[in-house]
Amino acid sequence: MRVFITGASGHIGSAVVPELLTHGHEVVGLARSDASATLLASWGAEVERGDLDDLDRLRSAAAAADGVIHLAFKHEAMRSGDFLGAIDSDLQALLALGDALAGSGKPLVSTSGTLMLAFGGIEGVGTEDDAVAGGPRIDAENAVVAFADRGVRSSVVRLPPTVHSELDHHGFIPSLIGFARDTGSAVYIGDGANRWPSGHTLDAASLYRLALEDAPAGSRFHAVGDEGIPVRVMAESIGRHLGLPPLSVSAEEAGDYVGFLAGFLGLDNPVSSTRTQEVLGWKPAHPGLLADLDAGFYFGC
Ligand SMILES: NC(=O)c1ccc[n+]([C@@H]2O[C@H](COP(=O)([O-])OP(=O)(O)OC[C@H]3O[C@@H](n4cnc5c(N)ncnc54)[C@H](OP(=O)(O)O)[C@@H]3O)[C@@H](O)[C@H]2O)c1
Repeated sequence: MRVFITGASGHIGSAVVPELLTHGHEVVGLARSDASATLLASWGAEVERGDLDDLDRLRSAAAAADGVIHLAFKHEAMRSGDFLGAIDSDLQALLALGDALAGSGKPLVSTSGTLMLAFGGIEGVGTEDDAVAGGPRIDAENAVVAFADRGVRSSVVRLPPTVHSELDHHGFIPSLIGFARDTGSAVYIGDGANRWPSGHTLDAASLYRLALEDAPAGSRFHAVGDEGIPVRVMAESIGRHLGLPPLSVSAEEAGDYVGFLAGFLGLDNPVSSTRTQEVLGWKPAHPGLLADLDAGFYFGC
């Protein structure tokens, strides 16, 4: 398949592009800078120069492809406070990509997050059948699923908050480690029994490929290996590797210790990938989060 990918140069893209190429697909990656273009070319991908907001370019590149994977997200805008702007760009890009594929039966694989289940009030272990009616990022997920009714073989991969591996340089784990170094404490909220799911970057990459190749139209998948690790256990591991004490803080204090992550740290988000494994024959094959923390690379060892 000739596959157009946005966000090809990012953390997840850096695993998805090689995964596709080694399985015989051609890759055309969106790149907004010379550096990203050079990186993509070095992996053996073709380059489509452009920005996520250039919707005409997205439409034409999608129409020229056999399938599309959407990974790009304006994290810089989000981190500088324009969360809603980043969310809206994501939605507009997806609508353009889906429009370009309407009636073709071609695959559109998009990206969402398991945390939306926690924000949406889903209790217990979240499954692929759980959906939330609306909200930031959730509207984009629902729009992708709805493209199934317009002749697109659309699917959504929900990533856990911690996608981990040596390819992860600025996700939630490097951020938590950076905050712990800066503040001298590895924190959790309350008793820290709330759980976060996690998944390995290379397992996520194989899931995107399988979804591209085989996903039934309108499906949701979970790139989850560890169903739920207590946040206290993650803080204890980070603290141990940095020689810092784990520390319980209140929800109100959390911002002083983990900045933009304060709104996420207390969420309980256990998530299953049973259905994903059944539908696509996907199986997580790489180390879990605690093993990757123990491997030392997150701490420069
Ligand atoms: N990694 C995780 O743990 C995780 C967890 C949950 C959800 N997600 C979601 O998964 C997706 C991929 O995440 P990631 O970790 O790979 O992100 P990332 O490493 O920050 O990469 C973001 C990608 O988007 C591109 N991009 C950003 N703004 C753009 C713009 N204006 N025009 C064109 N391209 C633009 C970047 O291009 P440049 O190379 O030019 O910067 C890069 O390729 C995102 O939707 C993210 O929110 C990730």
